[in-house]
Formats: sequence, structure tokens, C-alpha cells
Amino acid sequence: MKYFNKKLKIEGISLQNIANKYDTPTYCYSYKQLKKNINNFKKNFKSFSPLVCFAIKSNTNVNLIRETKKLGLGADVVSIGELMIALKAGVNPKKIVFSGVGKKTNEISYAIDKKILLINAESESEIKEIERIAKLKRKKIKIGIRLNPNTDARTLTQISTGKKENKFGVDKKTFFKLLKYCKKSKYLELSCLSVHIGSQILNHKPYEKMLSVIDKIINFADHEFEFIDLGGGMGISYLNKDKKLNYIKYNLAIKKFLKKHKSKIIFEPGRSIIGDTGTLVTKIIYIKKSGKKDFIIIDAAMNDLMRPALYGAKHRILPSQKTNKKSKTSYEFVGPICESTDKFSTVNNFQLLNENDIIAICDVGAYGMSLSSNYNLRPKPIEILIKGSKTKVIRKRQKHKDFI
Ligand code: LLP
Repeated sequence: MKYFNKKLKIEGISLQNIANKYDTPTYCYSYKQLKKNINNFKKNFKSFSPLVCFAIKSNTNVNLIRETKKLGLGADVVSIGELMIALKAGVNPKKIVFSGVGKKTNEISYAIDKKILLINAESESEIKEIERIAKLKRKKIKIGIRLNPNTDARTLTQISTGKKENKFGVDKKTFFKLLKYCKKSKYLELSCLSVHIGSQILNHKPYEKMLSVIDKIINFADHEFEFIDLGGGMGISYLNKDKKLNYIKYNLAIKKFLKKHKSKIIFEPGRSIIGDTGTLVTKIIYIKKSGKKDFIIIDAAMNDLMRPALYGAKHRILPSQKTNKKSKTSYEFVGPICESTDKFSTVNNFQLLNENDIIAICDVGAYGMSLSSNYNLRPKPIEILIKGSKTKVIRKRQKHKDFI
């Protein structure tokens, strides 16, 4: 997304035109950015050609998943719904991994029937349930065990998953116990050790630490894993001041690890693939003066984009038409929902804004639409894919009649 002649454009299309044509709020995605992200991701790790499984939870739009599939990605799913949408998008089942702490019997059974690559189990009870279902179906199933490496991902606590106090995976001791159990089972083939320590990680050190924990465990386990699934978590720069994840160092650490262990690496990236491809186009309904700040009341709200309300996450906000006039008061961008947390950010020295102006909330491709809800009985936004100078509706705007 860039300014051309002071107009903000995604590829060849101005945000003002999108708003005129499709109304607001509208989620827009750039195909060019998506392709660039996928190619860069592969390039960063090309020496060991990993299997890259797109984390469907970050964006569940079937059209976008289809594009990721065409660009060579598999899928990481965490529910039967996500598995169904990945299959609907045409993802090869042999490129699908199923994670999550609470898979139910019907979900495990469906995954086995669809012959997906791996079920990554997260507890002893789940492993026994997979075994029970496999026995009924008289099949031997490839599974992974998710290890909780007790590694601090140095990210927001709400999106940290690899510490012992988090519900995810099993600790070292349980891991060894389950490994023994699987080795004896006629219905389970332990093919994978999986980890995922958190999301929006911008420092490579937690990854290095995670790899050293896995290295020790494998040495001690004396078991060859066909796959090592390193999860996702690679962060993106939401604000200009955010640092960037050092992929060169992460890649080097994995290469060092692979010198000792001959496994195929799996990644499950979501945000780093889709995050910066998405923009939420929204319109200013009212401007309300209040002491030293003005409330900029926009037509997108926390139901459309939850991240700020849920995690205090910050997204850049940009005007669709640049001018040289600055506002003297600070602006607080808020939605119309009846909650004080329905606010996006407070900004000083923003360009002077007017009612009916179109603005953009940036980098909302990951966990934007997928976390949206109908709170306050607001219909979910339309989604548009932009390819060059073409736009395509990839999900219709919800209508009130859909729920009334
Ligand atoms: N694999 C597993 C097992 C996961 O739990 C997740 C994310 C991923 C892969 C993908 O992680 P990514 O590459 O996207 O960081 N809603 C939060 C993020 C929650 C992430 C949950 N798990 C947010 O908006 O920041």
C-alpha cells in the first residue's frame, strides 16, 4: 500500500474508490503482497525446503487459502471447520497438519478419513483417543507430539504459548513417557515432534533456545523423527519502530540443528504470510470534540478488528487522501460499539480529518476478519482481493437478514 499523487492505493486501486464501490468497512487484500511474502518465506529457508503449512486460523477466507495453496503452501488447522475449509480450497491432505489442545472424537475421525499428513497431539488422553479411533478403523496413524519447551517467546503474554504455565503441549517428562507408549502401539506411528512457542515473535533468540531444547530431547529420546514441526510465530512490523525478525539467524540455527538430525522441517506461519496483505478501509462517521482530544468515530469497530481491544495491539492508521494540514488536537480513533475498549489508537499530530473521510487501518490480514464477530449485531465486513487494477469480492458483506 502506497501513496500515489497523495492518494493511498493498494496495487492500482485507490481506497477512496474501494469505499465508493463497496461501501465501508471493507477488508482489502493485496495479491502482490501475498505472493511476495510467500516467496520471501520460502527463500529464507530454501536450503532445506521445509513444508510450509499456512495457519488457517489467521485468515479463513477460502479464496485466500486457495491462493496460498497455488503458491505451494499446505495448511495448519485447529478444528474440523478449518480442516474442511482447507480441503475445500484444494489443499493436498498430505500437506495438512492438525494442531490444538482439544480435538473431539468426530474431528480426529474426520482427519483420519481425509488422510491428512499428521495429527499433532497435545496430551496423553488425546493420544489414547487417537489410538482408540485408529484401532476401530484398523489403521496406523502418523502423529506428532507437541512439546512445551518452556521457552519465553518474549512477546505479548496473551499470545505466548511455550511456557510451562501455558496449556499447550506436554512437558519433557510426559513427552518421554508418551514416546515410549507410542513406540509400543500398533496403531500409532510417532513421526513428528512439534512446538509452537508463541506469536508475533521479533527476536530470534527464543527460537534458538527452542531448537536447543529440542536438540537435547531428541538426543536423549534416541528416536528419529521424520518431521520436526517448528510452528509459526514469526512477527511483522506493525509500527515503524518495531524491529524485524532476523530470518538469517533463525535459518542458521535450523541448519545447525539439521546437521545433527535428518528430519523434514515443517513451519506453520500465519501472520508473516497474510498480516501485511490486509487493510481495513473505514469511513469517519462523526468527529466529537472532547477537551484536549477529538474522538474520531469510524464505522469499523472492535467486532470487525478485535486485536486492539483484546491485546492492546497497535495498528497504523493512514488517511486515504494526504493533505498538508495538521490537527492541533490529538485524535482518538474509536468505533461505534458500546464498550470503552472499542478504540483503535490515540495519535498526536495526525493530519486534519473531516467527517466522511476514508481512512485505512493497516496490517489487518492476520487475525482481523478471522477474529471478527457479530457483537452489537453488526454484520461482518465484505472482503475484497486486489490483483493489479482488478478487484474481486471474496466474501460478501453480511446482511441483517442473515441473522434476523
Ligand atoms: N501454529 C500453532 C499451533 C498456533 O497456535 C499458531 C497461532 C500458529 C501456528 C500461527 O502463528 P503465527 O505465525 O500467525 O504467529 N490472535 C492473536 C494471535 C494468536 C495466535 C494463535 N496461534 C493475534 O491477533 O495476535
